[in-house]
Amino acid sequence: MGRERLGFDMSVRVELGERTYEVHVGAGLVARLGEVARAAIGEVGRRAFIVADSGVTATFVESAAGSLAGAGFNVTRVTIEGGERCKTLGHAERLLQELAATRHERSDLIVAIGGGAVCDLAGFVAAIYRRGVPVVHCPTTLLSMVDATVGGKTGVNLIVNGHLKKNMVGAFWQPAAVVADADTLRSLPIREFRAGLGECLKHGLIGAHAGDALLFDDTLVALKNLYNRPPDLLTDLIQRNVRVKAAIVARDEREEASDDGGGRALLNLGHTFGHVIESNSPLLHGECVALGLVAAAAVSGHLNLAPAEFLHNIRSSVKAAFVAPQPGKQARKGIETVPNAADPTIIAPLSLPPIAALIDQMHEDKKSRGGEPRIVVPLRDRRARVIRNPDPAALAAGWRAIGAE
Ligand code: GLY
Repeated sequence: MGRERLGFDMSVRVELGERTYEVHVGAGLVARLGEVARAAIGEVGRRAFIVADSGVTATFVESAAGSLAGAGFNVTRVTIEGGERCKTLGHAERLLQELAATRHERSDLIVAIGGGAVCDLAGFVAAIYRRGVPVVHCPTTLLSMVDATVGGKTGVNLIVNGHLKKNMVGAFWQPAAVVADADTLRSLPIREFRAGLGECLKHGLIGAHAGDALLFDDTLVALKNLYNRPPDLLTDLIQRNVRVKAAIVARDEREEASDDGGGRALLNLGHTFGHVIESNSPLLHGECVALGLVAAAAVSGHLNLAPAEFLHNIRSSVKAAFVAPQPGKQARKGIETVPNAADPTIIAPLSLPPIAALIDQMHEDKKSRGGEPRIVVPLRDRRARVIRNPDPAALAAGWRAIGAE
C-alpha cells in the first residue's frame, strides 16, 4: 500500500453539509483527543462524559481523559463491557440515567472509547439524550475505525423470538469528530484484528464506487506484513477504508438512494448473510461479514453476474486475509494459520440451521422491503449491485458456498 506521513494531515473529511466532520487517523493521536474535541464542538461544552470499553487499557483511557481535561473539559467516565451484548436498551437507559445524574447539558460532549459495539451504544445515547448531544468517537478496534464510527449509524439490538436482531433500534447521528489512534491496534487481540479485515475486504470489493478500485488487491498484497501491524501500514489501511466509506456515505447519508444509485446499501455487502450467521453463531461480526462475502460471491456466480473463478478468488482472498502469524512464533516458524473463521468447515460445528430456515431469517432482515430480502452481490470490477428478492436457489447457493446444508 502507499506511503504517507503520519500526523494530523491524515484526516479524512466526511462531507455532509453542516454535519461534516473529520476522521483523524494516525499513531499516538489520543494525546490530541481534547484538542480535536474542542475544535469540533467549540468552547461551549464544559463536560465530557467518557463511555469506555472495558477491553481498552486503563492507560489509554487515562491518556484520553487527560487530553480532554487539558482542553478544559470536566471529565466523567463510565466503563462498560464491550461486544454485542452491551447493545441493549437496558444499557442505553443506564447511561442516560448517569448522564442526567451528572447534569450533562445539551452542549456537553459524550466520548466513546472502544470497539464498534460501545461506539454504537454511546452514539445512540448521544442521539437521544436531550434530543441529541455531540459525540466524539475514539475507536480502538480495526472494525470500529473503518466502519462503525464512520457514517453516523448508531443503535442497539433486540432479541425477537429468541433471535438477535441487530441494530433494530437506532438513529442516524453523525459524530462531531473521530480520532482513530492506530497505536491501539498493536495490542488488539489477533482475532479481533482479523475480524476487522472482513470489513476492509468488503470495502475493497466496492472500492471502485469510491475511487479506489485497487484497495482490495493492495490489501491482499499488504497482508504479508499487515499482521505485524506497523503503524504506517495500519494508518494507510484505515485511511483508505475510511475514504471509501466516507465517499459512499456522503452520497447517501441515510441509505435512501435507489438500489442502482451507488448508495449506502452497497456497504451492506456480505451483511445479509453475515447478520444471519451472527444470529446463529458465536462468531464476531467481522468474521460473519467475511463469510457473507463468500456467500454473496456465490450468489453472483449463480446469477451469472460473475464467472465461476470469481467465487474461488473471493474465497481464497478471504482465507488469505484470515491467516495470521502466531504471536511469538513468527521468527521461528514463519506464517502459520490460526483457527480459520473464513474456512467453510467451521460452519459445520456451529450447527447452522438448515438452509430453508436460514433463508427465512434473511426475509426478516431489517433491510428487506415488503418482506423481500435485498442482497448486495459483488461484481468482478470492484463494484457491487443490489438484487431485490433474489431467487431462493441463488440464496441457497450462497449458503452452500459457506458450508450450510
Ligand atoms: N455498516 C454499514 C453502514 O454504515 O452503512
